[in-house]
Amino acid sequence: MSEILLTGGTGYIATHTAISLIEAGYKVVAVDNLVNSDKQILDKVAQITGQQVELYIGDVGDEQLMNRIFSEHEIETVIHFAGLKAVGESVSKPLQYYQNNLDATIVLLKTMLANNVNNLVFSSSATVYDCTNPPERVEGMKLGCTSPYGWTKFMSEQIIRDTAAVNKQFNAINLRYFNPVGAHKSGLIGELPNGIPNNLLPYIQQVATGKLDYLRVYGDDYNTPDGTGVRDYVHVCDLADAHTAAVKYLEGKQGVCEEINVGTGKGTSVLEIVKAFESATGVTIPYRIVGRRPGDVDEYYANSEKAQKLLGWKSKYTIEDMCADAYRWQKYLESSQK
Ligand code: WQD
Repeated sequence: MSEILLTGGTGYIATHTAISLIEAGYKVVAVDNLVNSDKQILDKVAQITGQQVELYIGDVGDEQLMNRIFSEHEIETVIHFAGLKAVGESVSKPLQYYQNNLDATIVLLKTMLANNVNNLVFSSSATVYDCTNPPERVEGMKLGCTSPYGWTKFMSEQIIRDTAAVNKQFNAINLRYFNPVGAHKSGLIGELPNGIPNNLLPYIQQVATGKLDYLRVYGDDYNTPDGTGVRDYVHVCDLADAHTAAVKYLEGKQGVCEEINVGTGKGTSVLEIVKAFESATGVTIPYRIVGRRPGDVDEYYANSEKAQKLLGWKSKYTIEDMCADAYRWQKYLESSQK
C-alpha cells in the first residue's frame, strides 16, 4: 500500500485529504508541530475511516526529523500543507512567515531528494495571482501578492519549480486553492479558526449558532452584480479529492511540474452565500453592510479546465452543501466545547 506523507497533517484541509486518500486505498503518515491544531483530530479521522494515521510531532524545517520519517517509511508522495497561514498576521510578522514557511519548503525538498522521494503536491493558493488579472484566474496568468503570506506561497512555488527543473526524476504539482469551506458530512471534523474568524463562512457559522451577533458585510459598492465581493467557494471535500487525483496523476511520471487551480469555476457573492446558508439551514443570518476591508478585491474565481483535463477532477458539491456541512460541524464543535 503506497504511503503518503502529509506535512501539517492535523490541519483542516490535510485531515479531509487524509480521509480521501485512505478511502482511495492509500496509507497516510502525518507530521505536524501542532502550533495551529490538535492531534485528537486524527482520532476522528480513524473513527471515520478505520485507519489511525501515524503522527510525527515536530517541524518540517527539522532536517533530522524529516530524514527519520523518510527512513522509517516508504513514502511515495508528499503533500505539503504545513505553514503559517493567517494573511493579516503575516503583515505584522513578515520575518516569522518567511522563515517558517520557506524553511519548511526548502528542508522538505532537500530531504525528499536525499531520500529519493520524488513526488510532491504543494498546498498553494489563488492568492498568488496578481489582483490586476481578469476575474477568471487561469494558470499562467501574471503573479503578484499583497501579503507576506501570499509571497511565501509564490516563493515556495518558485523554489519547487526551480528544483524540479534540475531534477528530472522529480515531479511536482502546485495546487492553487480558491476559497475552501465546509466540512466532512459526518460533522466530526472541520475548520478550527483561532479566535474571531477572519473568513466569511466560519464567521457566518458562529453567527448561526449565536456565538457572534451579526455578520459585517465588508462593502456593497464593488463592481459585482449585487455590489458585494465575489469568490470561488470550494467544498473542502472536493478540494481533498483534488489532492488524491493529483497523487494518482504523479504515479509513474517523470519531470512533471504543473500549477493547477482548484475551484468550482463559479463566483458567488457574500449576499448569495448568506441566502444559501439560510436556505440550507433554516437559520436567519442577520447582517449589516459596513465599509470595505482593506486589501479585498471585487471578484475572482477559478478557470478549472486544467484540473478537469489533467486530473479528471471537477467539483461536485453545491454552495448549499457547503453551508449545511459547515453548520453541522459548527454545532458539533460548540457542543463538544461545553
Ligand atoms: C471572502 C469574501 C470579504 C468576512 C482568504 C485569504 C486567501 C485564502 C482564502 C489562503 C470577501 C467578505 C469576509 C466577513 C465579509 N486563504 N467577508 N465579512 O479574503 O477571499 O481569501 O481566504 O490561501 O489567501 O485572503 O476570503 O472569507 O476572508 O472573504 O463580508 O466577516 O467575504 O470581503 O469578499 P478571501 P474571506
